[in-house]
Parts: sequence; structure tokens; C-alpha cells
Amino acid sequence: MQRGTVSLGTVAAFVLYLSTLFEPVQQLSQLFNTLQSAGAALSKLYDLLDTPVEVNEHPGAVDLPRRGAIEVEHVSFAYGEGPPVLRDVSLFVAPGERLALVGPTGAGKSTLAKLVARLYDPTEGRAALGGVDLRRATLRSLRERIVVVPQEGFLFNGSIRDNVRIAKDGASDADVDDALRALGAYERFAVLPEGLDTEVAARGSRLSAGERQLVSLARAALADPDVLVLDEATSSLDPGTEVAIEEALERLMQGRTVVVIAHRLSTAERSDRVAVVTGGRLVELGTHDELVGAGGAYATLHAAWTGGLAA
Ligand SMILES: Nc1ncnc2c1ncn2[C@@H]1O[C@H](COP(=O)(O)OP(=O)(O)OP(=O)(O)O)[C@@H](O)[C@H]1O
Ligand SMILES: [Mg+2]
Repeated sequence: MQRGTVSLGTVAAFVLYLSTLFEPVQQLSQLFNTLQSAGAALSKLYDLLDTPVEVNEHPGAVDLPRRGAIEVEHVSFAYGEGPPVLRDVSLFVAPGERLALVGPTGAGKSTLAKLVARLYDPTEGRAALGGVDLRRATLRSLRERIVVVPQEGFLFNGSIRDNVRIAKDGASDADVDDALRALGAYERFAVLPEGLDTEVAARGSRLSAGERQLVSLARAALADPDVLVLDEATSSLDPGTEVAIEEALERLMQGRTVVVIAHRLSTAERSDRVAVVTGGRLVELGTHDELVGAGGAYATLHAAWTGGLAA
């Protein structure tokens, strides 16, 4: 063979190799796309879960006791380098007590609720359960004892059953059924043609807003925590569903220590005490009757609620 020439065999081999080279390159670029969208999905998931990564378990952490009071002592908080969002807030919630948080938008209610569940650590002061500073608690006991029900429950692609089951490792079908029964919501899903195996689309479009809330409440029932931190949903529902949600909420709160961000009068009224948060400060604390009688911020809010002016 002469220098500077190539045999047909070499060309054929080259073309063959080229195609085997192309394939992985193409696959790589596809993989990259997949990774990118997975990354985007992951960051959305973090947004939804609102789970900051800065909270971690300290060496020598202890399990939280099974039953105990929530203590918030002189807590101040700022997101990152931002302005203070909570300033010197102190509260005590007795075991089995139900405390409603009310206040204008941006007041810091959700932030306070997140600190009670240690989704964040306070910048100053401390939050404790049963005398144990949440920063000293094992993360496992934290997530077992304290469950947060967010305002808008997040559903993923899968059946209704799968969507409830994620609340507890190794939960059986019967456990899921029981959680729904405990809320009086089992029948509502069981009567669907595919029952609890009904697929839920990613954005929950196959279920009504109320049904999505029921799924999210059923997760909390399955997790069966001592402390429930509830951000009450604001979406308006048809009266029938509204009643079902109220019933489910009532049953879920039974026997637990509850901090509920109340957007409805009935929720505040049925709580043992009400805390009013405004501009990051706790400005009023007392029973519904006491605060209405005191004629302050809560009385004003109450008047607006009963006048049907605000929700
Ligand atoms: N993740 C965050 N990063 C930075 N700032 C935040 C974050 N979450 C809330 N904030 C800010 O903190 C303040 C209190 O917000 P928070 O969500 O606690 O109020 P809220 O009382 O729950 O209001 P709403 O009734 O509208 O739910 C607001 O100024 C808000 O913009
Ligand atoms: Mg909020």
C-alpha cells in the first residue's frame, strides 16, 4: 500500500467508528438536557418543600420527648442577610393546646411556623419542644414529632395512594386507608372508578383543590405527629368540600399540639388561644373572647371577617 492513500476497509471502519462516536455524544447531550431539567425540577422541589439545607444535626443530638410544650423564647429571625422578619417573639403552647396565628400578609406567620418546625434556626433566641432546644434534637425525631402541612399541598405524578404514602417509610396500603378513614375522607376517593389507584397528574389537575388538600391532610394523618404546624389553605372551595375539609382538619388536630395559621374565622374561633403577629412582632395573645373584648388588632380583624370583608 502507498503512503497517503487509504484502503476502502479503513474508510468503512472510520465511518463505522464515527457513528459509534456520534451515538454517545448524542446521548451525552441528551443526558445533559435531562440533567438540566432534573436540576430545574429539583430546585422547584426545594422551593416547594422550602427545606433549607443549613439546618443540620449537631453532634450528641438527642431525641425529642414524645409529649411536651412548644417554647419560643425571644426569637428574632432574618432570611440570610435580609432585614429582620421576626423580632423578639416569645410564646408557649401547652401539650394538646391549639394556637392560631393571625395577622396581615407578610407579618411573619409562616416564618414563625417554620421556626417551630426547625425548618430554619432562629437568628437569636430559641425554639424548644419538651424542654429540648430544637437545635439539639435529632433530625429524625424532629421530622417524626413535628409535621408541617403547607398551604398548598404538593402532589407528584402517581396514584392517590402513592401521594399519601410518601409521608411514612414502609406504610402499607392499609395504613394509607386508615389515614384517609381517620379524616373521614376514605369514601370520597374509594368511589372513584380506580379508587385510590387513580393517577394524579403532576399539577393535580385530576383532583379538585379540596381533594388535593385532603390528600395533603391524609399525609399528616399517616405521619401521626405530636405537633402539627398547619398553614391553612386559602383557596375557596365549594360548600360541600369546605365542610369535608373542616371535618378532616378537626379530626387531624384532635389530641395534638397545634400551631395553625388561620385564614378563616372558624379556625381562629375554635383554637384555644390566638396570637396576632404584625410586622414581625407578637402584638396580642389570648383567647378569642379575650381578644375580641380587648378591642385591639384581633377585634378589628374579627369585625372584618364577620362583615365578610376579609378572608
Ligand atoms: N424564603 C424567604 N426568603 C426571604 N424572605 C422571605 C422568605 N420567606 C418570606 N420572606 C419575607 O419574610 C416576611 C414574612 O413572610 P411570611 O411568609 O412569614 O409572612 P406571612 O405572615 O406568612 O404572610 P402571608 O399571610 O402572606 O402568608 C415577608 O416580608 C417575606 O417577604
Ligand atoms: Mg404565610
